[in-house]
Amino acid sequence: MRDAIRQQAEQVIRRNDRGSYTVPTHGLYPFQWNWDSVLSALGFAHFDEPRAWTEIDTLFAHQWEDGMVPHIIFHEPNDGYFPGPDVYRTGRAVPTSGLTQPPVAGFAVRRMFERARDRDLAERRARALLPRIHAWHEWFHRCRDPQGTGLVAILHPWETGRDNSVDWDGPLSRVSTEGVEPFTRRDIQHANPAHRPTQAQYEGYIRLVQTFRELGWDNTILHDASPFRVADPGFNAILIRSCEDLGWLADRLGEPQIAEQSRSFAARGIAALETLWSEAHGQYLCRDRVTGEAVESLSIGGLIPAFAALPEARMSALAHRIATLGQSCDHLVPSHDPAAPEYDGRRYWRGPVWLIVNYLIADGLRRAGHDGIVGRIMSDSLRLIEKSGFAEYYDPVTAEPCGGVDFTWTAAMVLEILAQEEAPA
Ligand code: GLC
Repeated sequence: MRDAIRQQAEQVIRRNDRGSYTVPTHGLYPFQWNWDSVLSALGFAHFDEPRAWTEIDTLFAHQWEDGMVPHIIFHEPNDGYFPGPDVYRTGRAVPTSGLTQPPVAGFAVRRMFERARDRDLAERRARALLPRIHAWHEWFHRCRDPQGTGLVAILHPWETGRDNSVDWDGPLSRVSTEGVEPFTRRDIQHANPAHRPTQAQYEGYIRLVQTFRELGWDNTILHDASPFRVADPGFNAILIRSCEDLGWLADRLGEPQIAEQSRSFAARGIAALETLWSEAHGQYLCRDRVTGEAVESLSIGGLIPAFAALPEARMSALAHRIATLGQSCDHLVPSHDPAAPEYDGRRYWRGPVWLIVNYLIADGLRRAGHDGIVGRIMSDSLRLIEKSGFAEYYDPVTAEPCGGVDFTWTAAMVLEILAQEEAPA
């Protein structure tokens, strides 16, 4: 059984391979996506290390001069996706979006480096990526935390990778959609509209893109000018973990300055994350930086901080909170609390389980020694695959496969989970 799943996972990844980058899935997402690519590289590394490094190199070849790494690289024209380069108009030779995505590269590159069979190759490729990843982390602190709070803001729901989370309902409702240009969505031609964001949400998404475009995608002004600015605990935790891991890597590669600065970013982030903790809910909450208020939404964004090196009391509280969620659904970890009124088990980030997030959360909990809950998350993840294939996401109660099929990063996470099962404890 395990062997068959492993083979299928490899096939899914190969099928979505376009040579130097992978698409998340054919049809629905025909370009290179930032965090999909980086997490997919972890999958490639199990059967083709050079190809794994190339995946990340290709992404970083499109890094902006200011350090930002875009969320989509439009390598080839394809009108099956909206919004395309004509909407972003970022003026790049190979068009890219002007938004970014969760910075998992520091984490993934350390992991690939540590596990590499080809040590020389790993050292060469990691050495070349190190300053680029660091420049991205510096960009976050410079451009997305100009007031020096220790936490970075996201300026668009798409940046978090949790596009239509309940977290954004309040902040997005305050963004005027006046002047939004007419558009035709493509996503609902590829996937069931009941599994996708609503039309009103899409209008907000596109209006924000237009606003940033009108500001010339100038990252020195976007943060303060944006009508949407949220400090997301999950996003910040991913950045913190990547800074920590990049610091580790920089030490190994003899780059003490990068090491020191990365560690200081991580330490500041961990301290600042405390301001997002909610004792009442036993998890973290987003903070709307426009109003200054906490966003009362029980999403998985408040659990992802387990990926970073939190104080033990917080780790235990998150493990407990996840175990409690496990009493109301068969498959952990739902992207929104099933007991909350806004929960929708099939609509994208408003309830469904995503394997990539399971992997990140479990990784952090494992480091902190919470093996019981890690075992449950991993076995729930594999049951979903056995039952429903390599879907984009799954209903946490029924295990129904939702969204797109044959997903690259889902397959990559399966290879990771299988390898971890086999690894000596
Ligand atoms: C959706 C997801 C995002 C992902 C992208 C490509 O936009 O919300 O996290 O990167 O699809 O798979």
